[in-house]
Amino acid sequence: MTFTTAENMTTELLSGQPDGVLRAGELLRLGQVVAIPTETVYGLAANALDKTAVLRIFQAKGRPQDNPLIIHIAAFDQLKTLCLEIPPAVDLLARQFWPGPLTMILKKSSIVPACTSAGLDTVGIRMPAHPLARAVIQAAGVPLAAPSANLSGKPSPTNAQDVLEDMAGRIPAILDGGPCGVGVESTVLDLTGSVPRILRPGAVTQEMIAQALGAVLTDQSVLRGLAPGEPVLAPGMKYRHYAPKAPVVLLDGPPETTFQALLAQRLPEDGVVCFEEFWAKLEDRNCACSLGTSWDYAGQARRLFSLLRQFDRTEVRRILIQCPRSCGKSAGIVNRLRKAAGFSSLDCRRGRRVLGLTGRSGSGKSLLSKRLEQQGALVLDADAIYAQLLQGDPDMIAAIARRFPGATNQGQVDRKALAAVIFPDETARLD
Ligand code: TXA
Ligand code: MG
Repeated sequence: MTFTTAENMTTELLSGQPDGVLRAGELLRLGQVVAIPTETVYGLAANALDKTAVLRIFQAKGRPQDNPLIIHIAAFDQLKTLCLEIPPAVDLLARQFWPGPLTMILKKSSIVPACTSAGLDTVGIRMPAHPLARAVIQAAGVPLAAPSANLSGKPSPTNAQDVLEDMAGRIPAILDGGPCGVGVESTVLDLTGSVPRILRPGAVTQEMIAQALGAVLTDQSVLRGLAPGEPVLAPGMKYRHYAPKAPVVLLDGPPETTFQALLAQRLPEDGVVCFEEFWAKLEDRNCACSLGTSWDYAGQARRLFSLLRQFDRTEVRRILIQCPRSCGKSAGIVNRLRKAAGFSSLDCRRGRRVLGLTGRSGSGKSLLSKRLEQQGALVLDADAIYAQLLQGDPDMIAAIARRFPGATNQGQVDRKALAAVIFPDETARLD
């Protein structure tokens, strides 16, 4: 199958059969970009050692060139050529977690072009477990640089159709390996400092690494984003990520509480994502999805990105999501959700707070309410409600006409005339 766009680049959808793998290998050897499946997410692959090929990745993805790429290898021997030294921790980790969803940051050797590592003297390397990814690396005969195969900023693709949505007409081929088994990107572990440090959480958890190595830290920016001016360890962390078009409102707290908050907060134009155990209680399932049961973190990770992408095909105004409990196994999915929500969330554990906003016209009430709404607040515009009631409720208009003669005109309330009577007279206001 092929897909052509206005720019006239044709994108072949290759089957995961041996001929598809051979074709992918051939294109890669010619310096082209091919989207390939990995066990985490689909990657946009090209020869990591060929500067021109790597630049094509940045171009297809619309990725800023200061964000380095991960290099994918199929055999441990390939690692030796790509980095200056192999600390003992690498052997230990590789034995346990490779092939698999762990990227190790090491000091790079001179054969890695500066554009692959975005000018850094370090490089991220991983050996994927997906049989097609390994077969393609072997067919290409070179290590492959591959970021996630989404347009920059969008959620990573976890099936070939989602890659096609972003990349049709931008790359020559996509190798279809069906849905990805893990669903969130690899754990990124920096091994260049005195203590190993997780820069991005994933399926290989902090506990698993600690068991293999002893001490390991998780970088603070994983949990709370970057403070202004804070140094950036993984350049990818400073960019908006995993973000669907509509703002994400993350509901934090125990599942029962966040589900009640979701029902209370939901407006007709909102999309919602709830845990499977609450699905039957959701009366309106329009623009609603189940993330899986609240305790099945692996299932949630598999669904998350394709589910966020589905909302981009709708006109929802916000997406309300029940946030999974924070623990080692959920760190990857919670981190992606927090990034999608710009690291703000609604804490449903605390009592509800009510804020009143008042001020003259032009004082910024609308702007502030819009910001609060984006962060998950339910905003009630008293003026709009009042105007709506005055238009749509004939009994109320008749009652106002009886109590305040002169405040109505031809069956309509004259708001100015009504205000002129009411504001100076306290008993009238009480009525
Ligand atoms: O699972 C994955 O890792 C997928 C699949 C395709 O392998 N790849 C992936 O690549 O997620 P990408 O480029 O979307 O994310 C790589 C992350 C970025 O946040 C980048 O900044 C960071 O890893 N990174 C890469 N090289 C680095 C380096 N030398 N130092 C620090 N961070 C690095
Ligand atoms: Mg990415």
